[in-house]
Amino acid sequence: MFVTFEGVDWSGKSTQAELLVAWLREQGRTVLSTREPGGTPVGEAVRQVVLHGHDMTPWAEAALYAAARADHVERAIRPALERGEDVVCDRYIDSSVAYQGVARGLGEDKVLELNLTVTRGLLPDRTFLVLLDPEEARGRGGGDPDRIEREGEDFMRRVDAAYRSLAAVSPTRIVALEGARPADEIAEEVREHIRRIL
Ligand code: TYD
Repeated sequence: MFVTFEGVDWSGKSTQAELLVAWLREQGRTVLSTREPGGTPVGEAVRQVVLHGHDMTPWAEAALYAAARADHVERAIRPALERGEDVVCDRYIDSSVAYQGVARGLGEDKVLELNLTVTRGLLPDRTFLVLLDPEEARGRGGGDPDRIEREGEDFMRRVDAAYRSLAAVSPTRIVALEGARPADEIAEEVREHIRRIL
């Protein structure tokens, strides 16, 4: 089973990904817990460049995320799925469609096509979208913001709107969760969905 978590920055999706991984392991399942950009040495190197490096053009950014993803899928995700393991990934293709395709204005179809090409069409079995008003999410943020987090509120609003419309067009794959609730309540809803497909 391949499961991904999505949401605007500080939506709480990473916490939910961790809680699901812990629960699946308690059930005796073997889980690859991973994230994007990252998950392989190339992916982690790209993460540094794209989040903490120089300013770059939108297509350079989209291509870097796609490059990291290509390596991640072929070297980590697909091999784990072929071994019969579960894969839980914090962000995947929907992040690129929402952030680069819509918020950066590159076009969702073009960004989706690029990503389906480099991953040889690998889509998750389920995607949990943690919805949180961008303003509220921003209030949770702290520390040293990365290159994407430094974008303004309008940018995050576009990302949020993009995610909501992705969920509307893929209602079977993408499960939208109301993120302004206690983490354990959201986690229980995630588990209910997962129990149905185990
Ligand atoms: P994330 O790991 O969620 O950030 P953090 O470690 O700070 O919690 O994601 C890193 C950032 O990269 C986030 O702002 C979203 C962005 N991103 C894209 O713009 N496109 C992508 O394809 C991916 C995977 C992430």
